[in-house]
Formats: sequence, structure tokens, C-alpha cells
Amino acid sequence: MSKVSVIGAGHVGEIVAFGLVRSEAVDELVLVDIIEDMPQGKALDMMEATPIIGADVKVYGTNDYSDIAGSDIVVVPAGSPRKPGMSRMDLLNINAKICKSIVEQIKEYAPDSKIIYVANPVDVLTYAAWKLSGFETNRVFGMAGILDTARYRAFIAMEAKVSVKDILAMVLGGHGDAMLPLVRYTTIGGIPVTHFLSDEQLEKIVERTRKGGGEIVSLLKTGSAYYAPGLAVAEMVEAVLRDQRRVLPVVAYLDNKYGMSDVYAGAPVILGKNGVEEVLEIDLTADELAAYQKSVEHVKEGVNQIMDILNNM
Ligand code: 2OP
Repeated sequence: MSKVSVIGAGHVGEIVAFGLVRSEAVDELVLVDIIEDMPQGKALDMMEATPIIGADVKVYGTNDYSDIAGSDIVVVPAGSPRKPGMSRMDLLNINAKICKSIVEQIKEYAPDSKIIYVANPVDVLTYAAWKLSGFETNRVFGMAGILDTARYRAFIAMEAKVSVKDILAMVLGGHGDAMLPLVRYTTIGGIPVTHFLSDEQLEKIVERTRKGGGEIVSLLKTGSAYYAPGLAVAEMVEAVLRDQRRVLPVVAYLDNKYGMSDVYAGAPVILGKNGVEEVLEIDLTADELAAYQKSVEHVKEGVNQIMDILNNM
């Protein structure tokens, strides 16, 4: 019996949950939220959809953290989203408090679980969740790279007029405007992307990817993206529960990787039953490495800030 709890039953949480119901990757799913009746309503609605899909998944909603007991994975999208004009770092203060109270509950009720952090600034909050939980680094990781890579792949497919299915790529670094889509490692059906698109086209796509989250925020006006983020998390959960050993970019702990240590940031990993089985250190040019390290510098600043906030709480 596998069990996954999702803390925060807003838009991202419900898409994570519904993605897992559809893939039947989990046996039992718990939606937790502080708003009374709301997670119960969403869970019941999803449960009522299971006969239509033919999915044997039990979905529960609750306001009581003790219901997360026995979870294999706890996903945390709970937090304030961005408003137009805000950067992800602007959410640090408010989401640090939420992170602390949630991680305390996870430690108490699901001490053997893995934590997948989703709320922003995700790299910084994943670091905080790791520190606050005291869990091993392989058990605490975050979602950003699959989302950023999905955006990049979607934009390439739109521009090259080919199927998204054939585009393989990876975006590294912090989940911010300095993230690093790796053009050199991007292929369409195994053929380098530069065969299909010019440098100018690729530069535009890289820039659009970096600002991809903000583009959705400015269109929605009242919140941030949720379809692609939610399904990205569902893909990670499935990789762990089914021990798929997927090679995916996630927010992982860097310990002497790419010349960086004691920080969480987007890196390619092998994702399996133990969570992050291995952080892969791929070959980068001097320019790529410098851009990667620069983007992680922003995360480090955020980590210093959040540790100050948490120490003064
Ligand atoms: C995004 O990039 C919310 O950070 C999330 O859409």
C-alpha cells in the first residue's frame, strides 16, 4: 500500500492529486488544508471521478495533520503564490513561516516520509525543509526543473513545429530568471536542436523559459501556474513510488557538485525508491558552469536570509 499526502489543496495540490489518481501510481492519497471542508470536498469529487477513469485510488480530504501518518511521500505546495510584478524571492518571509509549521507536522506524523517541496522560492524552502526536518538529503527535494524543462520543450515544439514527445532537454540552476536551459544538451528525436532552430530562435526560447512562470502570473493575475507544476510533481512521485530511476532535473542538495556545496538547486538526478539516488555531475563548458553557479548564487542569498528568519522565530 503506497500513501501520498499533499499539504495545500489549492490549484497545484489538486493537480498533483488528480495526476496521481489518473496514473494510479498511488493507492491512497490525502489532501490536507487548513480551510475547513475544502479538501474534503475536492477529495470526494476526485473519488467520485474514479469510476469514470477506472482508477483504484482512495482519496481523502482532511484538516487534521495526523492523517498524514504512514505517508511514503509528503508533497508541499502550500504557500502564497506570486502576484504580477513579484519575484519568487518576494514570497520568502510569508512562505518561511508556513514551511516551519508544516515541517514540524511532517516530523511528528510522517517521520519516515520523503518530502517534495513545491512552494516558492522553492530552492530556498527545500533547503529550509531539509534543515528543519533533520531528514537525510536524499529524502528532501523539490520540484522546479521538470516544470522549467517542460516549458522549454513546449516552446521548442511550438517554434520547430514538431511533436513535444521527441524533445529531450534539461534546465538547471535556481528556479528564477537566471535558470540555465542547456541548449547544447537539447535534441529533437536524437538530433541536436540547432539543426531545427537558429541561434536567434533559441535565444528567444531560453529567455521565454526563464520568465515562463512570470508570463503565466501576468496572464492569470490572481495566482500562478498549476497544470504544468502539478503534473511535474506527479511525475516525480511516480518515479519514486515505482522505483523508475528516472533521469530528471529536480531541486537537489549539492554537496561538492559543480563546485558548489551546502545549497539546494536544480540538478539532474536519478529519482528512485530512495528519492534522490544520485546527483549527476555532467560535463559543462566554462561558460555554462559560470552561468549555473551564478544562478545558484541567488539561491545562496535566499538561504542566508531564510536561516536568519528561522533563527529569529
Ligand atoms: C512557476 O514557475 C509557480 O514557480 C512556479 O510557475
